[in-house]
Amino acid sequence: MSKQLNIAVLAGDGIGPEITAQAVRALEQLASQGHFSLALESAPVGGAGYRTSGVPLPEATLALAKSADAILFGAVGDFSLDTLPRELRPEQAILGLRKELALFANLRPATIFPELAGASTLKPEIVSGMDIMIIRELTGDIYFGKPRGIRVLENGEREGFDTMIYRESEISRIGHVAFQTARKRGKRLCSVDKANVLETTQLWRDVMTAMAAEYPDVELSHMYVDNAAMQLLKNPKQFDVMVTGNMFGDILSDEASMLTGSIGMLPSASLDAKNKGLYEPIHGSAPDIAGKNLANPLATILSAAMMLRYTFGLVQAADRLEAAVKATLASGVATADIYRDGCRRVGTQEMGDAVIAALKAVG
Ligand code: IPM
Ligand code: MG
Repeated sequence: MSKQLNIAVLAGDGIGPEITAQAVRALEQLASQGHFSLALESAPVGGAGYRTSGVPLPEATLALAKSADAILFGAVGDFSLDTLPRELRPEQAILGLRKELALFANLRPATIFPELAGASTLKPEIVSGMDIMIIRELTGDIYFGKPRGIRVLENGEREGFDTMIYRESEISRIGHVAFQTARKRGKRLCSVDKANVLETTQLWRDVMTAMAAEYPDVELSHMYVDNAAMQLLKNPKQFDVMVTGNMFGDILSDEASMLTGSIGMLPSASLDAKNKGLYEPIHGSAPDIAGKNLANPLATILSAAMMLRYTFGLVQAADRLEAAVKATLASGVATADIYRDGCRRVGTQEMGDAVIAALKAVG
């Protein structure tokens, strides 16, 4: 009997449904090739959740996410809902899932496919061969710190405030993930902070430094976040694994993604302590191109590959799916975001077809 994968499919808004549909097709193809069996269940989330149940993360959706082994997530965000009170906006769904499921470890690889080196805004020689893993802490920091709010001062002026806060245990928990990831890769870990100004990140640096003794095979370095932002543009190949807090990681991972040529190519995993995970492309819901068969489904398909690897330990199936994506790119089909001269331009569905054909070819 092959292993049954219980997956919650939360497609969300905008291009979410189109891109997750292609990732599901790729998983179904692998299932039909005998790698595993699938039990998929879908539920609305984000703007879709708000429209069906009045909240971005309906209770039934959260319950499904909790009971599944893994979650395939599309994207949330809908401009027409941006004027709602913050707690009802689509983005709250993803923040709520991260917190409720304790998905503290966010893995965001920024890897360049050779075919796309020319699509980066940086010179090909700067980015080609780049292979960075950004590890972002995902359930703490200024994103969730209390108190927060907008208050009115005695003179009637309004003041906005948030709390940047990390406990030692939260720092070491993500630190272990980072050191262990570095151990399996190039054995270099760069911890990013702002210890020259912020107390929270001084503690971050102290904890990381103390942990290094447990990982003598990993070379730990530290970098201030402003310098890290610059170094990513100057010489991205100097990095192997980077680890940082929630806020800095949000910013640096978007920056790193663009070095690879298209944000439409990058997957991500958000894991709990037992490797249960939520898998999503790092791009957003792109409402401007939704429903037009224009979106690139490869980031979502690669997220499904990460799911096979990290939650289910199905290394061979994950390798096959990644190899199929590489073969698809090499075959010269391209969605608009990665179009280069000489390519055949295709839509979301045809890109999915091409990946499935490549999966059939590798068997
Ligand atoms: C991300 C996104 C989210 C974040 C938003 C949608 C809340 O930008 O996953 O990086 O800020 O974490
Ligand atoms: Mg972001």
